[in-house]
Amino acid sequence: MKIRLENIVKRFDDNTAVNNFSADIESGELVTLLGPSGCGKSTMLNMLSGILYPTEGKIYFDDDDVTYMSPEKRGIGLVFQNYALYPHMTVLENICFPLEIKKVPKAERIERAKKMAELVHVETMLNRKPGQLSGGQQQRVAIARALVKEPRLLLLDEPLSNLDARLRIEMREEIRRIQLETGVTTIFVTHDQEEAMSISDHIILMKLGVLQQYDKPQYLYDQPANCFVADFLGNPPINKVEGIVKGGKVWLDNGETDSTVAVKDVADGTKVYLSFRAESVILDDKSPLKAKVVMTSVMGKEIITSFVLGGKEVRGYMNSDVELVRDQEIGIRFKKTGVFVFDYESGERYL
Ligand SMILES: Nc1ncnc2c1ncn2[C@@H]1O[C@H](COP(=O)(O)OP(=O)(O)OP(=O)(O)O)[C@@H](O)[C@H]1O
Ligand SMILES: [Mg+2]
Repeated sequence: MKIRLENIVKRFDDNTAVNNFSADIESGELVTLLGPSGCGKSTMLNMLSGILYPTEGKIYFDDDDVTYMSPEKRGIGLVFQNYALYPHMTVLENICFPLEIKKVPKAERIERAKKMAELVHVETMLNRKPGQLSGGQQQRVAIARALVKEPRLLLLDEPLSNLDARLRIEMREEIRRIQLETGVTTIFVTHDQEEAMSISDHIILMKLGVLQQYDKPQYLYDQPANCFVADFLGNPPINKVEGIVKGGKVWLDNGETDSTVAVKDVADGTKVYLSFRAESVILDDKSPLKAKVVMTSVMGKEIITSFVLGGKEVRGYMNSDVELVRDQEIGIRFKKTGVFVFDYESGERYL
C-alpha cells in the first residue's frame, strides 16, 4: 500500500511537533523516520496509526483519505519499544490475540499464529510466557502479533532500543528479512543513524518537526541537503572547520590559509563550514594545505589520524607508509567526494 502525507501539521498547544510535512511512501518499501529526540518521529507515526489526528493536512492510504479514521479501521500493525506483550498469556495466545478480537475461528487463528511464529523464529517457544523470553525473543513475538492480521502497513517505533548492542544488530537484520519476506509497507522510527542506514529503502531525516531530506541512505550520506544532514549521518562524524569565502575559495584560519576548496556564486566574506568525511582526506606532501598531527589510533582494520587543520582538530583515514608522529607537519588534500561547504549560520549547502 502506498502512503501520501500532505502538508501535515501537528500542534500541541503552542508547540508545533510536526510542521508542513509532505512525503509519498511507495508500496512495499521500508522507510525510516530518523532524527534526534523530540523531532516529531513518534508524533508522525501516531498520526499514521490514528492514535493522534493532525491539526492540519491529509493522510492517504492508496486513494483513501484516512486522516480521521479510527486506528482499528486502518489495517495497521504496531510495534513499540516496550514489547507490551500480555504477561499472563503464552506466546501463542499473544500472537493469536488480534485474530480473536477479529473473531477469526479458533483453528484458523492457531494456524496463522503458528505460521507467524515460524516467520519470526519463535516456533519452539509457543507455550512460554513473555517473562520466560529474552528481550529479542519478546520483540520477535511482538512483531509476529503485529503481522498476524496481515496489516497493510507495519509501524515500528524504536523497536530495538531496549536491546543490547549485538542483539540490536541481529534484530534489525531480522526486521529487514521479515519485511522483505512479507512485502509489507513499513515505517520504522529510530534516532540511530547506523540502524537507519543499514535497513532502509529510503530515510526521512527530521529536525524540529521539519523534513530535512528524503532519499536513499547512501544518497543522504553522499549528497546531504544541508549541514544538519551531513552532521547527523556518518561515524566518525563528519569533520567541520570554520572558514571564510574569498575570491571563490574557502579560506581557513580566519582567512589566513587557502584550503584549495572552491565554491561558486558565494559572496566574499561569507562565513562557512568546510565539512569533509574522514575517508575524503588524502596525504600529499606537495599540497600547500598544511596540518599538524595530533595522534594516530587503530580502529579495527583502519588507522585514523587526528590532526589540526584551520585551528580545529579533525580526523582522517590516511594511508601512510611511515608512522605519523605527534606535531609532525603534513600536507593534505581532499577527494572529490565527501567534501562540502555549508553556510555557517543557515546550514545551506554551497558545495
Ligand atoms: N501529547 C503531547 N502533548 C504535548 N507535547 C507533546 C505531546 N507529544 C509530543 N509532544 C512534543 O512534541 C515534540 C515531538 O515529540 P515526539 O515524541 O514526536 O518526538 P520523537 O522524535 O519521537 O522523540 P524521541 O526520539 O525522544 O522518542 C516534542 O517537543 C514533544 O515534547
Ligand atoms: Mg519517539
